[in-house]
Amino acid sequence: MSSSPVIELIREKLDIVEIVREYVPALRKAGRNWKAPCPFHNEKTPSFTVSPDKQIFYCFGCNEGGDVFSFVMKIEGLTFPEAARKLAAKAGVEYGEERTHAMTEADRERLELKKMLAHAADFYHKTLFSPAGEKARLYLGERRLSKATVERFGLGWAPADGTSLMNELKARGWSKDLAMKAGLVTEREGGRVADTFRGRIMFPITNQAGDTVAFGGRVLDPEGIPKYLNSPETVLFSKRRTLYGLHEALPQIRKSGRVLLLEGYMDVIGAHQHGVDWAVAPLGTALTGEHAGLIGRYAKDTVVMFDDDRAGIQASVRAAEIFMDAGLYVRLANLGNGQDPDEFLNDYGREAFEGKLTEAADPLDFRMTLFFKGLKTAPTSQQKAQAIAVLLETVAKQPDEILKSEWVKSLASRFGVEEDSVWKQLRKTAVHAPREARREPETAAPLRMPAMERGFIQLLLRDPSLFEKARELAPEDFSDSSARAFFTALMELPPEGRPKAATALAEKFPDQSAAILEMAVADLGENAGPQSAARAVRVLKRKSLERRLKELRGSAMTPEQLEEYSRLMSELKSSAKEL
Ligand code: UTP
Ligand code: MN
Repeated sequence: MSSSPVIELIREKLDIVEIVREYVPALRKAGRNWKAPCPFHNEKTPSFTVSPDKQIFYCFGCNEGGDVFSFVMKIEGLTFPEAARKLAAKAGVEYGEERTHAMTEADRERLELKKMLAHAADFYHKTLFSPAGEKARLYLGERRLSKATVERFGLGWAPADGTSLMNELKARGWSKDLAMKAGLVTEREGGRVADTFRGRIMFPITNQAGDTVAFGGRVLDPEGIPKYLNSPETVLFSKRRTLYGLHEALPQIRKSGRVLLLEGYMDVIGAHQHGVDWAVAPLGTALTGEHAGLIGRYAKDTVVMFDDDRAGIQASVRAAEIFMDAGLYVRLANLGNGQDPDEFLNDYGREAFEGKLTEAADPLDFRMTLFFKGLKTAPTSQQKAQAIAVLLETVAKQPDEILKSEWVKSLASRFGVEEDSVWKQLRKTAVHAPREARREPETAAPLRMPAMERGFIQLLLRDPSLFEKARELAPEDFSDSSARAFFTALMELPPEGRPKAATALAEKFPDQSAAILEMAVADLGENAGPQSAARAVRVLKRKSLERRLKELRGSAMTPEQLEEYSRLMSELKSSAKEL
């Protein structure tokens, strides 16, 4: 959490609740705070809290927290200056010369990596339209991609020689090391360094903001291995959290609240070309909880349509369970003719394709249909029992109780069995179903503070009017070293800084910022207010006296110490009367 006059101005003009809500539409008012399921980890019960008073957010589940700048940095994967520029524009604040302000070494490197990746995308794209890219252009034409689509997705061609990009980057003054960090060049056998992508059609992979963070490359040669090569994981790129096409699809996803999850690059591109522009795809890995969380931020309705083959069908059932685990509504669609979405769209067009989407079934229905389709004769009782047991695993994952009971009904009727016995069987299944993985929050130092000391700091973070009362205390009145340091820092704040005490403190103690933010947003319930503060001051003073007395008793007791001892004893007695 940085500050400077410009940053302060931006902070003042923006409301963190409004900004967060753009990314987390599920944000709801809860007492003085706002709450939602956390966008930074997977959960069903909302532990993500935004405090309009403090202009901070904090998640009690994963300990992420900070101000509006850190929020935008985290959620969009931006560096501080990038987030600041973005927020400055929203706030209508000029943000010019200060652009490099407060950049850390890591920020600078991320910016440089992004520049390099953008340049590489540009290089590949230009190469596609050079003589060297002729075969690739022909291939894209065969795949029926229009020029506009190729431009929109920034497709390119990586020459086969294996050094073109490296030379290009070198000529621009970028080091081999940085190119390796970007995943653009790779060390090969014998320590030789060469371009990662050679002789491949290039698909730039962008983050939500549209910055290129990685590449996928497809071979031209049908025998080539692997068919698709992806960039390695880098500081900018994590496969688990990235969805291909999300940047392009976001406007439509936000508008319609729905997402279409397809299997591959070409499917997404083909879909967009045909106007189905809410399609995204994971990157050759199974769908993760992070992906589901990312989608859930923008859409409540997801349709999964993977390839119509065995692997695709299995993967879509797994994906559905991941969506349900994340508390999201999901339906499964299938083209049913063995084609990929991209082929189907080219052959039958958008209307036929959307028809298939409206036929999407809920995960249970989808699985039941698969089961009955695979049968040649009516199922035996034993087959039924086995199938029901397997299908109940899907039912058990349904987070919505109403839907769950609908599913039990439909299972019973489709298999011709008693609803009651399905319920009984479900109860047995539910016990064995894996629970939502809970991340144990680490106990940060301030959480180990004596409760009264922690409570008092919390009061100060909450209510600036209590600072006057706090003057009755001295740092020594706190036994815990963090509490003492926090108290000292708080008392040093100028009066106008008190309403923003939480952010100031978090900035001063970055290692403990999560715990500080947690204290600031935690619900104190009845224990807030001046009476509690006055009582806390008395208790802290008395405890401090007792500690000092104990210390004195354990010492040799010089005449001065003896005098102090009797003075403190009488103070203690009179304080006991007050309590
Ligand atoms: P597919 O093999 O279904 O490819 O893999 P595709 O999307 O239909 O591609 P075309 O139509 O043959 O060009 C689906 C996705 O799995 C990942 C890619 O993300 C691909 O889009 N994949 C596939 C890899 O990461 N590596 C591979 O070797 C193959
Ligand atoms: Mn395909």
